Amino acid sequence: MNILILGSGGREHAIGWKLSQSPKVSKLFIAPGNAGTKSIGENIDVSVNDFESISEVVLKNNIEMVIVGPEDPLVKGVYDYFANDEKLKHVAVIGPSKAAAELEGSKEFAKEFMMRHNIPTAAYKSFTVDTLEDGYSFLETLTPPFVLKADGLAAGKGVLILEDINEAKLELKAMLADSKFGAASQKVVIEEFLDGIELSVFVLTDGTNYKILPNAKDYKRIGEGDKGLNTGGMGAVSPVPFADEVLLKKVEERIVKPTINGFTKDGLIYKGFVFIGLIMVNNEPLVIEYNVRMGDPETEVVIPRIKSDLFDLFEGVANENLDTKEIEIDQRSACTVMMVSGGYPKAYEKGKVILGLNNVDDSIVFHAGTKSEGDKIITAGGRVLAVTSYADSFKEALKESYKSIDKIRFDKHNYRTDIGFDL
Ligand code: AMP
Ligand code: GLY
Repeated sequence: MNILILGSGGREHAIGWKLSQSPKVSKLFIAPGNAGTKSIGENIDVSVNDFESISEVVLKNNIEMVIVGPEDPLVKGVYDYFANDEKLKHVAVIGPSKAAAELEGSKEFAKEFMMRHNIPTAAYKSFTVDTLEDGYSFLETLTPPFVLKADGLAAGKGVLILEDINEAKLELKAMLADSKFGAASQKVVIEEFLDGIELSVFVLTDGTNYKILPNAKDYKRIGEGDKGLNTGGMGAVSPVPFADEVLLKKVEERIVKPTINGFTKDGLIYKGFVFIGLIMVNNEPLVIEYNVRMGDPETEVVIPRIKSDLFDLFEGVANENLDTKEIEIDQRSACTVMMVSGGYPKAYEKGKVILGLNNVDDSIVFHAGTKSEGDKIITAGGRVLAVTSYADSFKEALKESYKSIDKIRFDKHNYRTDIGFDL
């Protein structure tokens, strides 16, 4: 079967890398892809949100499955675009419908979903510009820190955590009255602060049946010791050592099952990945967010630990018989360390030549912000490469990744040397 992957990051390279190992996959296309995805398929220069051009590519190349990497096209309704078109409806789209993608597209929708299905989460209330004063009053009833979340998609920047009540009120006003995050902050969810350690659980579902994938923890801050600005993610580890069987059983019973059953009860069509962001408070898991796609860089440790044929699992999703598929997980640990452009997540330069990629043989290098220029590979984004390794423990895996990073060079590169420091 010919397959199209939408996206251009390390996540999409990792998914493609795994699919390219399946004997059932004939040809992979990646739109728009990066220099790394060129080695496993054909890059197509089309934006992930240009559904018309995507459908032309699909029809022209006899593509029968589309895997959606990022959230944007899902929230914009790429699933429905295919399902509602006579010429396209035979194509399997791996990703939720537009209505279900609201789990990530609207924090309020996600909160209401969790309330309706008794899924443990932080207490909250949501406000608009008309209820700004009520928002101030609600803040007065909470103990700091204060958690303010823009309702809509804000490229990972829409969550503010503030210690000072006056600052929280100013930010609430900036979000609601002064469009701090544009349309995304027309509504703001104010949430109880949860104090605990984070864990991400990934589920693949056909809407009724599900498979729990390896769990992971990512490191979002630019600085060591989790200091400094938020990034898309600087590294990840899988499995998470504290996620023992007892905890994972609680997550499955209290969170995964009611989530999947909730899709059926609410009539939400969901054929894809569910990314459940959790915080453990006194060893009890609470949901802080749903994402309707895989995480990046979590994918770069989760997918390499799946031993089964990923295409076979996707077929189970498309045909709604995921219950008939087996999933086998590699018992080793995997870690990934992101090499980023100097200056990221603030302004940074692009176009730096990347050297030494061919010298790496003990890690898998997934490309993120890279592109080809003649026979060179150059940097083209903030997050450039995800260097993944396996070992019996995540600490040993990290050592391998750092050894590989020493062999790769580009001007002003940066990376965190302390991934997994808190585990
Ligand atoms: P989100 O965009 O919802 O993932 O939030 C971004 C980050 O903010 C999360 O990864 C958490 O570290 C933090 N966060 C979100 N909600 C809460 C909460 N209720 N309590 C504590 N931290 C939170
Ligand atoms: N690494 C976090 C995310 O993909 O949202």
